[in-house]
Amino acid sequence: MSDSYFHAEEAVLRAPARRCYELVLAIRRYAQWWQRVQFEPLGPEATLRPGSRYRFTGAQLSGTMQVSGMKPWRRVDLHCIAGDLLGPLSWEFTQRGNSTVVRYAYRGVEPNSESLRRAFTAGRGLEVYSDMLQGDAFVGMRHVLEEGLDVSGGDVFEALLTLRSVRRFRPDALPDATLRAIIEAATHAPSARNAQPWYFLAVRDADVKRTIAALYLGAWQQAQRYTSEIDADADIKDRPDYPRMIRSVDVLATHLDSAPVIVLALLDTSQLGPMADGRGTILAPQSAYASIFPAVQNLMLAARGLGVGSTLTTVFSSVEAEMRAAVGIPPHVHIAALIPLGYPRRPFTVTTRKPVGGARTIVSIVPLRRSGGKN
Ligand SMILES: Cc1cc2nc3c(=O)[nH]c(=O)nc-3n(C[C@H](O)[C@H](O)[C@H](O)COP(=O)(O)O)c2cc1C
Repeated sequence: MSDSYFHAEEAVLRAPARRCYELVLAIRRYAQWWQRVQFEPLGPEATLRPGSRYRFTGAQLSGTMQVSGMKPWRRVDLHCIAGDLLGPLSWEFTQRGNSTVVRYAYRGVEPNSESLRRAFTAGRGLEVYSDMLQGDAFVGMRHVLEEGLDVSGGDVFEALLTLRSVRRFRPDALPDATLRAIIEAATHAPSARNAQPWYFLAVRDADVKRTIAALYLGAWQQAQRYTSEIDADADIKDRPDYPRMIRSVDVLATHLDSAPVIVLALLDTSQLGPMADGRGTILAPQSAYASIFPAVQNLMLAARGLGVGSTLTTVFSSVEAEMRAAVGIPPHVHIAALIPLGYPRRPFTVTTRKPVGGARTIVSIVPLRRSGGKN
């Protein structure tokens, strides 16, 4: 008697087949949309390729899957090679107009555990598991694909070169999955002792944003007064981009609360070990701040990859203690940066910077000589 089971679930998603296919390949992002199953890739790759393996656990099933074949944008063939089920499965994508029929097919799998065999023969068939697992996947896929989250994350170099300061935002809200992906990328940054001494407070509440914005504006006005009193921008104010930059900084300062999300990147000094004194005073500033700013940069790059604009700001630092108190952050946790997030009003363009090899960029690896030195 054959013990093989066939079954398929399908859903129509309002997205091109290419995006559905890319979503299925991006194994490290499954947690963003597939809630009931946990996945653990068994190789270093970020996206599935033939031969990739991953473990899955969920809905009382677990096992190891291997990618056995791929047809770009049309199909991903999988084989369950260990665990409760064994045998072939596939994702299939058929585009119809602007939508895609996404199908998850069990193509002759066999139960590989006594309990599953009993469950199947007792009528708790593959359909029940499939409905639970794939139903959940389709809900998540719909959420991600139809809300416009580009899960491919874009190209690293494109994100790096077009990471502009975005200070004018469209009012559209940031989907939870997008915000989560951005913060998750931040937390993959390096930190001294791998202490990960950070929190990311994502503020969406209009009242809290207004409180933060009022303090921020005060700090910006104070900075402007100080800068003009001592002519502190003397070294840059003749640059052609200076007036535009100041106007833009001013727009952000006067409209900060219109950013859909304000992220406060928090440095917990109690997690800095020898870099702080235990009472909130930082003793080794390089290592302490270098343990949060890579995460901030990750956050902004991830945001850029997902089409979300951001700006790294620190001008609020003169009112940091008041801001902390207003938001309810304890004194030993410092606000290292404030980053507004939102979809930009204008497309991203490549940033302009001093050329590599220009007057002030050191490209030589020859040891620098002291003037008047002998060697
Ligand atoms: C340490 C640091 C602090 C900054 N503080 C602010 C700030 O308080 N307000 C602001 O609008 N921009 C701030 N910026 C953004 C810079 O103004 C911006 O990166 C620079 O002008 C280059 O602009 P671009 O990214 O659009 O090319 C800061 C950037 C850094 C790295």
